Amino acid sequence: FQLKLPENEPIKGYLPGSPERIALKAELERQLVNPVEVPIIIGGKEIRTGNKEKMICPHDHQTVLGEYYVAGEQELLMAIEAAEAAKAEWENMPWEHRATIFLKAADLLTGKYRAKMSASCMLGQSKNAFQAEIDVICELADFLRFNSYYVQEIYKQQPNNSNGVWNRVEYRALDGFVAAITPFNFTAIGGNLATAPAMAGNTVLWKPSSTAVLSNYYVMQILIEAGLPAGVINFVPCRGVDFGKIVINHPKLAGFHFTGSTSVFNSIWKQVGENIDKYVTYPRLVGETGGKDFIFAHESADVEALTCSIILGAFEYQGQKCSAASRAYIPKSLWGDLKKRLEEEIGKIKMGNVCDFSNLVNAVIDHKSYQNIQSYLDYTRESGDAEIIIGGRCDDSVGYFVEPTVILAKTPTFKTMVEEIFGPVITIYVYENDKLDEALRECDTATAYGLTGSVFAQDRAAIIKLSKALDHAAGNFYINDKPTGAVVGQQPFGGSRGSGTNDKAGSAINLYRWMSQRTIKETF
Ligand code: SER
Repeated sequence: FQLKLPENEPIKGYLPGSPERIALKAELERQLVNPVEVPIIIGGKEIRTGNKEKMICPHDHQTVLGEYYVAGEQELLMAIEAAEAAKAEWENMPWEHRATIFLKAADLLTGKYRAKMSASCMLGQSKNAFQAEIDVICELADFLRFNSYYVQEIYKQQPNNSNGVWNRVEYRALDGFVAAITPFNFTAIGGNLATAPAMAGNTVLWKPSSTAVLSNYYVMQILIEAGLPAGVINFVPCRGVDFGKIVINHPKLAGFHFTGSTSVFNSIWKQVGENIDKYVTYPRLVGETGGKDFIFAHESADVEALTCSIILGAFEYQGQKCSAASRAYIPKSLWGDLKKRLEEEIGKIKMGNVCDFSNLVNAVIDHKSYQNIQSYLDYTRESGDAEIIIGGRCDDSVGYFVEPTVILAKTPTFKTMVEEIFGPVITIYVYENDKLDEALRECDTATAYGLTGSVFAQDRAAIIKLSKALDHAAGNFYINDKPTGAVVGQQPFGGSRGSGTNDKAGSAINLYRWMSQRTIKETF
């Protein structure tokens, strides 16, 4: 059993009349009229509590996709017990046997369940067909296949021996269970946060986002069909406060795999700190958090590439990627041309229902997010320091729709230049061409984040200068390309500063975090 470096899962086009489009349309129609009941899954058993929540379509909030059961403190304690009970057999299973389960899951995902998985992301998380395809199909399959390969490569690494001495390293699982808290914006991230620790022999409690339960549940079902033993991953949709209380207080908590807001990760970190004397081992805290991702243009930038990257980087998936471009620094000499192109191209963008395949922009995830975005737009309208120059209209009469919006700020520290909005809004600051160094300093220091960023320049010396000036401003740094769309195996993903621990998703570095090595020296 020797895995080769995998190829990335090819992206399907969903062109009119294509078999994948026909299958996906039929599946969308099927899911719209067949509400689903999602159970909690603990130790391989389906659990139903007295507490249920609705799953709705963000693009049409009167459409109910089904209901999910909410785990409480008692179920969370049961899940920890189940994870502990499954641990010994799972961690001692030869890794090849574990890997076959995840590889089979990738094949089920990209084969038999492709339409089902995409449709659940489209309806539940308001992704268009392309965004669903690159998330729950291609990226998740890539995570499963590349991580299996990286685990194999790590396990092969052994220390040197000397005469009469046999040294070896055992790559054991952590001493306890791992908790995964996963976001709504990528089902691939949900699947990855739950499976990466499991690949290394850990057992896991998986708390999916309350606004992405359906597609996350289908991932769980695929893992079970692929042969995941009971208790290895326990699927526990629940309230964050219950999860925090039960999980963080538990002495066997050995790791947290988190993607979400900086404030929640900070609070986990603090609570772990307060409980530090309780644990059997120091919990590993691995997190990807917020971002305020930038586009920085030099006067030598290609304006067409810049226009395209601003639009796709800021507005695809309604700006709800952690990597989305949300502030841009543009030299005055390019602004006139860029503004004209943005007005023209953004004017052509279609927004609406995910079932109409021509819409680039769909709804934002829920009412809370809609209101939050709206409050930033209201603030901008009332402020004298910035103006909305494109878009800005919001409408939640049917679904949570926010137009692709461009704000022009008079100062580089304007609120929407520095705070994460998580919506289809980009703020632009135009700098004087002879104030390049000042603008670079602003870009580097304006926020506490460091997730993604792009620079645009055709002048080679400028590329070097911009890359150097912003060397810690982004964990994923793009030159002449948009800051979104990292591909597993090609651009390992993660940021530092206030954006996380930078244990790149889909990389050996991440997998090491779920392993606790034992070094053995034997003299013979
Ligand atoms: N990995 C995604 C991207 O690069 C964000 O989570 O867009």
